[in-house]
Amino acid sequence: VQRLPNETGYEGWLRYRPASSSRRQEGYTAVCQRIVARGASEVLLSARRELGKGLGAILGRIPEFLVEPPVDGRYLGIGTVAEQWLLDALAVAGVPRPTGDGFVLFGQGHATAVFIVGGSDIGCLYGTFALLRRLQLGEDLPNGPVVERPAMALRMLDHWDNLDGSVERGYAGRSIFFARGEVVADRQRVLDYGRLLASIGVNAVALNNVNVAPGAMALPTKRHLGPLAALAGTFRSFGVRVFLSVAFEAPVVAGGLLTADPGSPEVARWWSQLAGGVYDYVPDLGGFLVKAGSESQPGPRVYGRTHADGANVIAAGLEPFGGTLLWRTFVYDCKQDWRDRSTDRAKAAFDEFLPLDGLFAPNVVLQVKSGPMDFQVREPPSPLLGAMANTSQTVEVQLSQEYTGQQVHLCYLVPAWKRALDFDTYASGTGSTVAKLVCGASSRTGMAGVANVGDDPNWTGHHLAQANLYGFGRLAWCPDLPAEQIAAEWAGLTFGPDPASADVVTEMLIASAPAYESYTTPLGLGWMVTPGSHYGPSPDGYEYSPWGTYHFADSVGIGVDRTTSHGTGFTAQYREPWKTIFEDPSTCPEDLLLFFHHLRYDFVLPGGTILVQRMYDRHFEGTAIAEDLLARWRSLAGCVDTVRYRAVEEKLAEQVRQAREWRDVINAYLYRKSGKNDENRRPVY
Ligand code: GCU
Repeated sequence: VQRLPNETGYEGWLRYRPASSSRRQEGYTAVCQRIVARGASEVLLSARRELGKGLGAILGRIPEFLVEPPVDGRYLGIGTVAEQWLLDALAVAGVPRPTGDGFVLFGQGHATAVFIVGGSDIGCLYGTFALLRRLQLGEDLPNGPVVERPAMALRMLDHWDNLDGSVERGYAGRSIFFARGEVVADRQRVLDYGRLLASIGVNAVALNNVNVAPGAMALPTKRHLGPLAALAGTFRSFGVRVFLSVAFEAPVVAGGLLTADPGSPEVARWWSQLAGGVYDYVPDLGGFLVKAGSESQPGPRVYGRTHADGANVIAAGLEPFGGTLLWRTFVYDCKQDWRDRSTDRAKAAFDEFLPLDGLFAPNVVLQVKSGPMDFQVREPPSPLLGAMANTSQTVEVQLSQEYTGQQVHLCYLVPAWKRALDFDTYASGTGSTVAKLVCGASSRTGMAGVANVGDDPNWTGHHLAQANLYGFGRLAWCPDLPAEQIAAEWAGLTFGPDPASADVVTEMLIASAPAYESYTTPLGLGWMVTPGSHYGPSPDGYEYSPWGTYHFADSVGIGVDRTTSHGTGFTAQYREPWKTIFEDPSTCPEDLLLFFHHLRYDFVLPGGTILVQRMYDRHFEGTAIAEDLLARWRSLAGCVDTVRYRAVEEKLAEQVRQAREWRDVINAYLYRKSGKNDENRRPVY
């Protein structure tokens, strides 16, 4: 058996292995061994370097860079619409000009020459990665035009990195940006991250945690600005703009003022000076990200002001520089009385923000978590999305698997994000999807994802968790891409060129989230996690706590009654037809039943199974799928290099152990509450 060379996973999906057959390699080489490139901006140089590296490996020879097309007409031409020779090439081929950060790939004369033309330098870089992806997947050189353009303007990763180098909800090691209170000086890792991000079209990164610790409030000040500017420069060469998280209370804690009241002129001055200071060093800073009035973080209400007042005063400081203020809507009472069943955390953001529609400055964007609670494996989409006709919104998802197995469990989240993006809000009639909302609304909106990356050699801790990073970028680039296609692309790039391994990995990814959901908390139940760590089962862990995350299980039934007729009234936050659909357990999608309803254990589901039986079944099924994930992976022994094979095997084995634990704990809990036997007499303890 031929041993495959070991891989650390550090290269991610940019592995650039030689073309799978010599015929392919010859075909690619005939055209791509000579590259005609004239532009020399920083970003274009990144594109050139990438072509050198990628094509060098794929073709097995270093390509030659030229300024003039060779006489035989066989070459790869790259540049932007600012170059006349490329406009001519577009015209000859009858191909439309790319716009914005889009690109076209096309061939001339039956692909004797191939072109990457960007609407901008960044578009060129994206086109470069798109071409390299095709070649890595063994596809033909493009002939007919491939025209692409990012659907969303903002495609952003939010790092919850602290200045001391720790990462909140980080499961892949320490921060790649900060260590021991400083911005890192060695930027090699950041450079390689920038490449990965550009290759999937991500164009913004928030560097630090939304929970800004007092020490980190000094981040946008003199002491750190030099190193921050250097870091932003590294990202800039990959078309990635940097954002900083700032604390609402910073004027007091970091600035020494007596108040952070947004109504105070002194506070306004402080924010505008702060912004000015940062823009001196980072002239293309994306802006600031703020978590305020949330989870014990002070907010405008402390001063009797609204979230609009709070956001606008900071946004005014950014405005002269074109910066954006991202203001999170993750606002709720985290000190509620569990005895009080009328307060519903799911309703909080909508209640708080809806009345403020139209009051935010034009450079404020509300960043809304995709679900109304907090990144559970299944939630309905947040009713706030699309509800504010006169306010820009960005949707926030979580790559970091806080509630979805913490990068020990395999849980491919792209299908869940897609569900949120595809949701029809009916805000302006049929077809008002969340995707449309965040794509079309403004040049500042899009999708933000809590990053799952750390200093682990393979970036994400679990090799297969890289699929979520890849998928996030691809989906923000084009929300129409099917989750299966994204999975297959990633698997092909990461485990190819052997298509058999890639197929198995794709199937594993697709099976993973439904499995996780089934063996943990199916039917929209959610939570039941160990308080604090949010890992592992603890059915009553949050039941008598102030966090607003309950399931109300008793001897008769389980679930949260969020109906308008006799529950918390949450369903009324949705437009029709959703309101009616969610309101009635007979029309509510089964996967959300217990999110919207408190039901008897013997509630009869369509098909005749009773609720508690379905819960037992789902837990057994989900665990069986987890076991199958491990078996499928083991079928790849010898087809994947030993290092990656063993690392993934170890994680999957741990996942199986954990899945059984989840199954048995939750099933035992339901049995003891309900007294109902499993009709199939499987072990329930
Ligand atoms: C979750 C998470 C916190 C995080 C918060 C947020 O509650 O547990 O660690 O700070 O989300 O999104 O702000």
